[in-house]
Amino acid sequence: MIDNIYNYTPQNIQKAAEIIKCGGLVAFPTETVYGLGANVYDAKAVASIFAAKQRPRFDPLISHIAEVDFLKEYAAVDERVFALAKRFWPGPLTFVLKRIDENPSIDLACSGLRTLTVRMPRHPIALELIRKSGVPIAAPSANKYQSISPTTAQHVSEGLGDKVDMILDGGACAVGVESTILDLTGKRVVLLRAGGTAKEDIEEFLGEEILISTGNPELPSAPGQLLRHYAPRNVLRINVTQPEKDEYFIGFGTIDGHLNLSPRGDLCEAASNLFAYLRLADSKAPCGKIAIAPIPHTGLGLAINDRIQRASYK
Ligand code: TXA
Ligand code: MG
Repeated sequence: MIDNIYNYTPQNIQKAAEIIKCGGLVAFPTETVYGLGANVYDAKAVASIFAAKQRPRFDPLISHIAEVDFLKEYAAVDERVFALAKRFWPGPLTFVLKRIDENPSIDLACSGLRTLTVRMPRHPIALELIRKSGVPIAAPSANKYQSISPTTAQHVSEGLGDKVDMILDGGACAVGVESTILDLTGKRVVLLRAGGTAKEDIEEFLGEEILISTGNPELPSAPGQLLRHYAPRNVLRINVTQPEKDEYFIGFGTIDGHLNLSPRGDLCEAASNLFAYLRLADSKAPCGKIAIAPIPHTGLGLAINDRIQRASYK
């Protein structure tokens, strides 16, 4: 393993910002998962994100920003967008907006679509890196395409260590599942991906129900909508209360196992442990089989169930 993990120091952030400005790749912590970042305006650098992840190019990237003002230049923003940003940013909520600019340098990050996908992360290292770089940072999760997202710097190093110029270590990610993605291009708000911001909280704030995307898994608008995604190497069985003898069992609440996502049944704690426990199970399952207990389908449970359903798809 290459040792390119750097602790947080002002000098290291400055060094990371220089790498971004010069067209390199920096993996950095956010409150959800680690991102693999490049200057959004540098198409060559953005192309190297796709290459490092072995990710298909139809798949647009999230632009990470530190100032809301960036939106006005590039996207059609109305009061609803600003209100949501004011309430939920910085935080694990991503907006898909109509693009209004003609700047070809961000076409690749947008995968040629007329939409811009953007969020303001809540992690101080991420925000400082964006500010010091002076550009929005395009970043998918810092893992190989379709594999488990990284929630520590070591996870990034194991999967992509030789492909990134620098990994900034910010410890374990507090939220642990990716951001919630909302399509704000139409009249009604549509949930494209359940994630770190609970659907119920958004609905309560908007005072209306949000629609759930019925994206065609054969032709997804987001690979997060692919039937198989976030996958461990081993077979995964979900909604299990009685594991088989040869299964490595991940419990939840009162259903105990080799590991327990949250003994006290806290869905936030469970989300923050999910990807690390899937990795651990992957390395420990004696017969290549993992099972996971039922997870309540409320709050962050929507995001957890979404990830494990896709991870279990054969
Ligand atoms: O929490 C997160 O969102 C993390 C951190 C690093 O910010 N990022 C992340 O990025 O999860 P990524 O690329 O792994 O997942 C973003 C998802 C992809 O499935 C992509 O297809 C979808 O968002 N997406 C991006 N732009 C889209 C668009 N315009 N329309 C539909 N889906 C879009
Ligand atoms: Mg991802």
